[in-house]
Amino acid sequence: MQAFGDSLPFDQRLWREDIAATAAHARALERAGILTPEERAAIEEALASAAAAFEAGTFEFDGADEDIHSAVERYLTDRLGDAGAKIHAGRSRNDLVAADFRLWLKAATLRIASGIRDLLAALAGQAETHRDALAPGYTHLQRAQPILFAHHLLAHAFPLARDFDRMLAAHRAADVSPLGAAAFAGTSLPLDPVATAADLGFARVFDNAADAVSDRDFALEFLAAGAILGVHLSRLGEEIVLWTTSEFGFAVLDDAYAQGSSIMPQKKNPDAAELLRAKAPRLAAHLVALHGVLHGLPLTYNKDLQEDKEHLFDAVDTLDLCLDAARGMLEGITFRRSRMAAAAADEFLAATDVADLLVRRGVPFRESHGVVAGLVRRALEEGVTLSELPPEALAEHSEVLDDEFYALLTEGAWLESKVSEGGTALERVREQLAEARRTLEAPAA
Ligand code: ARG
Repeated sequence: MQAFGDSLPFDQRLWREDIAATAAHARALERAGILTPEERAAIEEALASAAAAFEAGTFEFDGADEDIHSAVERYLTDRLGDAGAKIHAGRSRNDLVAADFRLWLKAATLRIASGIRDLLAALAGQAETHRDALAPGYTHLQRAQPILFAHHLLAHAFPLARDFDRMLAAHRAADVSPLGAAAFAGTSLPLDPVATAADLGFARVFDNAADAVSDRDFALEFLAAGAILGVHLSRLGEEIVLWTTSEFGFAVLDDAYAQGSSIMPQKKNPDAAELLRAKAPRLAAHLVALHGVLHGLPLTYNKDLQEDKEHLFDAVDTLDLCLDAARGMLEGITFRRSRMAAAAADEFLAATDVADLLVRRGVPFRESHGVVAGLVRRALEEGVTLSELPPEALAEHSEVLDDEFYALLTEGAWLESKVSEGGTALERVREQLAEARRTLEAPAA
């Protein structure tokens, strides 16, 4: 039963929060006249020595400590006798565990938000550097239309800006103090939950004591934000894997973020990018698992709730590592502009723009699409590029195609025409970069 029921092996990492919440409760009990100032001072002193022991790795657990909460309380009672035995008045492990968990998550969400911001800054930095680099854009992983590479990098940056907002929203959800709810019914002792919340730096206090100990919405909100962030990191990782293949050759990883093969000496494997790709399902699984734990659970506290911690801890650890790796990888990556430009110079990528040219001449788009498809087919059959087709050949396909067809196919013209909102023309990309930078300047909380 002990091996099955104890959470100490994994909730030890809440020691800082448990000590902080216990010290705040001691001050609350003093204000309520339940602890003398001397008792409160002795408790705070003992908590400080417990903190030092935890910090040094010398805190001694007792075989009977089920979790971090019982360990800290037992430590106080061992040291102080009655003064320690008074600490649990007006509280329960139910409100205590929720308080510890929320405090821990508050710090984690802020750290992750700042990790997202650092990654966003690395992406924006690369976008700035490669503002004028050409690259092919893809749909179905087939070359589709030419773009500025910065346009593509920024398409990875804006999802991260949304992730940043979601992480701060998860922080706000966690920022509610459950202390004072006691087991779930509140307490007959004259405690002031608002004062305790302020003491611990919580922005708000619970409205209903039963909800306060049952609620794990904040953990779900964080895991949902984390799962979405995981998807974005995974898509970025996958593109880095593609870009660094010999087949694409668009990018070269810094040696610090690549690994060799144990047998093939020439290999430079994008392990970090592959791991980014593979962590997404793990994050999504933690979200699904906690949904599973919570759904159908009767109010109020049930031991099931102990199963919230490992999912959340692993999600936080995973995201801390992923964000660090993604940022480091992007800061050190070298993009091979000439390879990307050569891939973007494929004239067939201008097919959509030729169709748009016909549209400007009054041809219905569906018809112009067919005309250009015919030209592409013809060029392929004759083994020439679009601009090598002679004017007579054009005339056979359309009456309104003239020299502008050739002008359009010269490099750059395709790109600079995409001036619509959020488009890939340089001016629009500059605006996007400025907008991404504004996210970087937004206050963190
Ligand atoms: N270890 C427990 C948890 O993590 C703490 C709360 C225990 N409360 C109780 N009534 N058994 O959920």
